[in-house]
Amino acid sequence: MSLPPKTPSESRTTMTDMVLPSETNPLNNLFGGELLARMDRAASIAARRHSRRITVTASVNHVAFNRPVPLGSVVTVEAAVSRAFNTSMEVYIDVWMEDRVSGARLKANEAIYTFVAVDESGAPTVVPELLPETDLEKSRYDAALRRKQLSLVLAGRMNPSDATELKALFMAP
Ligand SMILES: CC(C)(COP(=O)(O)OP(=O)(O)OC[C@H]1O[C@@H](n2cnc3c(N)ncnc32)[C@H](O)[C@@H]1OP(=O)(O)O)[C@@H](O)C(=O)NCCC(=O)NCCS
Repeated sequence: MSLPPKTPSESRTTMTDMVLPSETNPLNNLFGGELLARMDRAASIAARRHSRRITVTASVNHVAFNRPVPLGSVVTVEAAVSRAFNTSMEVYIDVWMEDRVSGARLKANEAIYTFVAVDESGAPTVVPELLPETDLEKSRYDAALRRKQLSLVLAGRMNPSDATELKALFMAP
């Protein structure tokens, strides 16, 4: 019996926290590893909400530390499943800083992780399909297969000649 599909908003996970002195580098900005851990936690919850299974991080496909996050910043990590495959899910993470005076949100970083749903013995198990709704969700969904193929090629799990989406990107028809 197939599982009912879900939308990205059903997995959306928002975590807000401050940057404390023990979490900074010598320039008093948020340490990259600390941000990776915060993103992993939010993304793991999103993957769990989508699949209602135990989920493990299979790969970190992309991280962009575009903007330093200073000590004392209020940081919000927002994660949602951007595409579900058979047993794996791509989770897209947006990181925002909040201006202390105006309260305006400024995009600080983003990342894309892959999670796999597993059973109690650690074996991959099927997840529900994802139905994107907004334009942003649809564009992230459309590009996810290309990113999955790239991740599998880089991990040595796919022969580049089988990466149809990547070939379509680089080769004229
Ligand atoms: C992730 C893991 C469950 C995959 O198990 P496996 O036996 O290799 O399973 P499969 O080859 O069937 O792959 C399962 C799914 O993961 C996907 N996958 C595996 N590695 C991937 C990678 N590097 N990038 C993208 N997707 C990947 C596969 O494409 C497959 O997806 P699909 O079923 O949606 O098509 C297993 O490698 C594992 O448990 N790794 C450790 C996870 C962990 O401990 N993470 C925390 C690190 S501290």
